[in-house]
Amino acid sequence: MLKNKVLKILLSNKEHVSGQTISDNLGVSRTAVWKAISSLKKDGYNIESVNNRGYLLLEKTDILNQVEIEQNIHSYKLLEPPVIIYMDEVDSTNTYAKSIADNLNKDFLVVSDMQTFGKGRLGRIWDSPSSTGIFMSLCIKPDIAIEKSSMITLVMALSLCDAIEELYSLHPTIKWPNDIVINSKKISGILTEMSSDMDGIKYIISGVGINVNNKEFPADIKDMASSLFLETDIIMHRAKLIASVISHFYNNFNIFLKTEDMTDLKEKYEKHLANIGKEVKILDTKGEYQAVALGIDENGALIVNSAGKIKRIISGEVSVRGLYGYV
Ligand code: BTN
Repeated sequence: MLKNKVLKILLSNKEHVSGQTISDNLGVSRTAVWKAISSLKKDGYNIESVNNRGYLLLEKTDILNQVEIEQNIHSYKLLEPPVIIYMDEVDSTNTYAKSIADNLNKDFLVVSDMQTFGKGRLGRIWDSPSSTGIFMSLCIKPDIAIEKSSMITLVMALSLCDAIEELYSLHPTIKWPNDIVINSKKISGILTEMSSDMDGIKYIISGVGINVNNKEFPADIKDMASSLFLETDIIMHRAKLIASVISHFYNNFNIFLKTEDMTDLKEKYEKHLANIGKEVKILDTKGEYQAVALGIDENGALIVNSAGKIKRIISGEVSVRGLYGYV
């Protein structure tokens, strides 16, 4: 699409670029360039046009599209960046990623500006309004044992913390295994889905929802949810945050792959672990009991002390007393 090519040129130039230079570079007419610029302005880009000098993209606007995501991810110079698939609207990026996962051999990242049927954990709905949040699903095809796949969620949680720290200077915490919490409110959640056959893992899809520029939340979740904007007053460029998360993910994932477990990431993960040293309520198939969270082991299980007995929690729901306002 010509508009995307013109946008790429504008994004990579800090000085004005003349209409003639753009039309020469792209081999199209000046009128076509002018039309593309008008269309970008309609999308919300603030483009200055100066006689005899040309076009300049003024301040960074939070507009999500294929080019913005690709340019930002490429700026991290990853060895093998994922293929980017952007859509303005989709039912769920996880569902879409699953529908194409068997046909693509490379890692890929599905991003959408909004979801009509965003899925949360435990069958919940993930509120996914347009122009505010990040809804993305990273599909990877690692050659690791099936039982290791649940740790990808922990690797992603850590990467979300790394990215938020890098861009906002906040100290995000993790409610084991994978909720990102700031000031006792949930900012981000992860839904990881895996497909396997007799030969092992076919693919793992790590779906991430981040409340970025939300100014408010529906009544039923407003006491427990917050956004990065509400915590900092900073309107973030979502493509920049996506790129940072993906870059940190691959860094952490490569560390994970060395041992195929959390051995070398455990210390960093525990620094973010909101539950550490706190009383937690464990809900498992047998019922409910209380314990104190001590940390995680190299396989990502939560280690707790329950009435003097040390236990490994590998599944079930852990709720944390005094962490969320509503608990
Ligand atoms: C949770 O319940 O905490 C997990 C929420 C995960 C939401 C994300 S948004 C992008 C991806 N697509 C979905 O349908 N869900 C995940």
